[in-house]
Amino acid sequence: MCGIVGYVGYRDCSDVLVKALSKLEYRGYDSAGIAVFDEGKIKVVKSKGRLADLEKKMLKQGALKGTAGIGHTRWATHGEPSDRNSHPHSGARVTIVHNGIIENYREIKEYLQRHDVKFISDTDTEVVAQLLDYNYNGDPLATIVKTVEKLEGSFALGIVFADFQDTVYAIRRESPLIVGVGKDENFIASDVPAILKYTKDYYLLEHDEIAVLSKTGVEIFDINLEKIEKELKTADWDMDAAEKGGYEHFMIKEIHEQPTAIKTTINPRIQNGLPDLTECGITIDTLREFKQIFVVACGTAMHAGMVGKYTIESLARVPVIVDIASEFRYRQPLVGEGDLVIIISQSGETADSLAAMRLAKKLGAKTLAIVNAKGSSIAREADMLIYTHAGPEIAVASTKAYTVQVAVMYLFAFLLAFAKGTIDEDECKRLTKLLSDTPKIIEKSLDKTKKITQFVSTKLIACDSLMYIGRGLDYALSMEGSLKLKEISYIHSESYAAGELKHGTISLITDGMPVIAVATQPHLFEKTISNIKEVKARGAKTIVICTDGFNVTDDVADYIITVPKTDDILMPLLAAIPMQLIAYYTSVNKGNDVDKPRNLAKSVTVE
Ligand code: AGP
Repeated sequence: MCGIVGYVGYRDCSDVLVKALSKLEYRGYDSAGIAVFDEGKIKVVKSKGRLADLEKKMLKQGALKGTAGIGHTRWATHGEPSDRNSHPHSGARVTIVHNGIIENYREIKEYLQRHDVKFISDTDTEVVAQLLDYNYNGDPLATIVKTVEKLEGSFALGIVFADFQDTVYAIRRESPLIVGVGKDENFIASDVPAILKYTKDYYLLEHDEIAVLSKTGVEIFDINLEKIEKELKTADWDMDAAEKGGYEHFMIKEIHEQPTAIKTTINPRIQNGLPDLTECGITIDTLREFKQIFVVACGTAMHAGMVGKYTIESLARVPVIVDIASEFRYRQPLVGEGDLVIIISQSGETADSLAAMRLAKKLGAKTLAIVNAKGSSIAREADMLIYTHAGPEIAVASTKAYTVQVAVMYLFAFLLAFAKGTIDEDECKRLTKLLSDTPKIIEKSLDKTKKITQFVSTKLIACDSLMYIGRGLDYALSMEGSLKLKEISYIHSESYAAGELKHGTISLITDGMPVIAVATQPHLFEKTISNIKEVKARGAKTIVICTDGFNVTDDVADYIITVPKTDDILMPLLAAIPMQLIAYYTSVNKGNDVDKPRNLAKSVTVE
């Protein structure tokens, strides 16, 4: 987590760093800080709280003047959010910002303490700053190499040495880092949106590569200090993609971007009416080989995998095990040759998902990554790769990344079923056509459900706890609805398989407790209605999300939200919309910080 930036050029560095950090705040926002070469000295200003708090402090103290420096926005891991623990951290001659976790920091700290080095923070990062200072021999590159040799864990570091004015050094291992290249100015950043205002050209640093940035150029070295040439990439996002564009929050903007995101993701992968994933390394022949599929991911991405499971199993008749990445990696999974492991990740940097993928590869399985962030670690290391084209997702609560992941799971499931011969070409074409029609229907669903979800949210703001229920695909979707609501509204919520409630959880239902039931699957409809009646009989206020034309009577539902109809299997794409809107409006009505919910960060690069 955490976002790091660095700048060397001709502009007011403080201003560039703060603007760049504002585009990375989604990575962490409990404190922020910058260090700038100001009149020949490295000066630091940092503050607990949001970037806005740092800006206030800068106004009060007087801005740092200079054209080179580094900056940081933090999601605390080691040490509480406080001024003292905020980055940058310094030794006597060196100042750094860090994203990642140094696993052996205690050991190094004790070693340095035995050599009379004093520490002022609780962070693992200060240990790196002090070790750099301890190893410093007047040669920054040699010092960096000597220091990182001792580090275990993950890091992207922005480093400035007091003796080397207006030069920014950077190195990464595991944590992402790009080097932006402009005219007479260069940048480092954890993610592309930070530099888009200034340049679209960038290098992707690989593990243990070191970048040296001056105003006039960028040099990149490997860990043996051999100079290397790298391919200059060009970002295909424009500035608007990383701005709110007139919407009040990124989340609602991203909810509205879903039809386009789905179109852009699936249309290029349809040829002659059939899914075509050959450019992703997936052919009919490869698909025929797989006997068992694992979908491994975290949070929302894992929920997209649940929709994939129900779809693949029912259409292609191939067993699918959905695993939480942090469980998969430590439970000695029975994975091996002949298995396919699908890793789903918006950021492509989630530590547990990346580690799970590496484990799957080690065990002999083939890996397929479904990833949104271009060039991310998961994207680069997977055997096969399907990029989702959602564009940058800034709101911490994932919306468009989820629906594009689900759309890709559908494409994959249709192709797999066709490859396995469990559906014929006509059926595959029919389903693919319906999938490509969903963006239009989602637009309708957005219009249709806006008012009612706004209204329903007013009924939720006062409650402490609620429940989401559903069966089959509706259950898979209700997991996501529940997560969305709790992460941004702070209302406790659980999702439950509707038929499982009576085995214990129904005892939680009290008078007036809201229960959101999803009922879009005709073959499960009557069963779900019975389960809704069971909770209603125990006092629950029921909100039923169902397909247009389903007969839900007033004695079953206190509020009914209907979504347009498509093939049953595709209904999660449509029913996801009111789920997202309910979460959004509840958070807005509670006055919460919708895009940056407490305790969370967008990219979870720690275990
Ligand atoms: C979604 O709203 C979450 N904030 C979170 O669950 C997220 O989906 C999860 O951390 C996985 O992230 P990834 O897709 O970047 O791997």
